Amino acid sequence: MKAMRVFIAVEFEQHIKDYLNKIQKQVMSYSTDGNFSRPENFHLTLKFIGEVQPSFLGNITAAMAQSVHGIRPFKLGLDGLGNFPRGNKMIVWLGVGGELDMLNLLFTRLEASLSSIGISKETRKYSPHITLGREVRLTVPFSKVAEAVATGPQPIIDVCSISLMESTRENGRLVYTPLHRQPLVD
Ligand code: 2AM
Repeated sequence: MKAMRVFIAVEFEQHIKDYLNKIQKQVMSYSTDGNFSRPENFHLTLKFIGEVQPSFLGNITAAMAQSVHGIRPFKLGLDGLGNFPRGNKMIVWLGVGGELDMLNLLFTRLEASLSSIGISKETRKYSPHITLGREVRLTVPFSKVAEAVATGPQPIIDVCSISLMESTRENGRLVYTPLHRQPLVD
């Protein structure tokens, strides 16, 4: 069977995607180049898993169910713009705020459950971010862009479930498809 590339993420409602698209357009206006995420693809990754066999997906969904025990729905906010430098280009992302202790707890629980089915834990600290663009080349210093964007009221992200997502390429376009949604319950 063909392997599937999967990850676990928080999906966003349309109004969050619209807001992120607005910020992204501001970043674009200061860029000469960039591989910008398609707005429908915006998400917050909790855990990148990589390639697995389809027969393994049941183990992952069971681990997801186990990990959310006692974790009630919570709210996240959006934070400022950040970047990961990549040579003379950069990955540009938006940070998240709000109930970060809940997000970190969810991440830690998820990692523990996934490690019990053989998925290795991250060696790096979890650094929650929403990627707006990769291979971005700016026309002004990053700090100027960060100052210029994200003014005005910001929407709240209601985290009510976590999703197992598949990543495929269709005609060269990156497509993310939810395979399973695990609700958080009070
Ligand atoms: P990124 O946004 O920082 O690129 C799907 O690829 C999601 O998994 C993306 O949000 C991506 O984060 C994240 N991810 C984490 N580690 C990855 C890896 N080694 N390869 C690809 N994606 C990864």
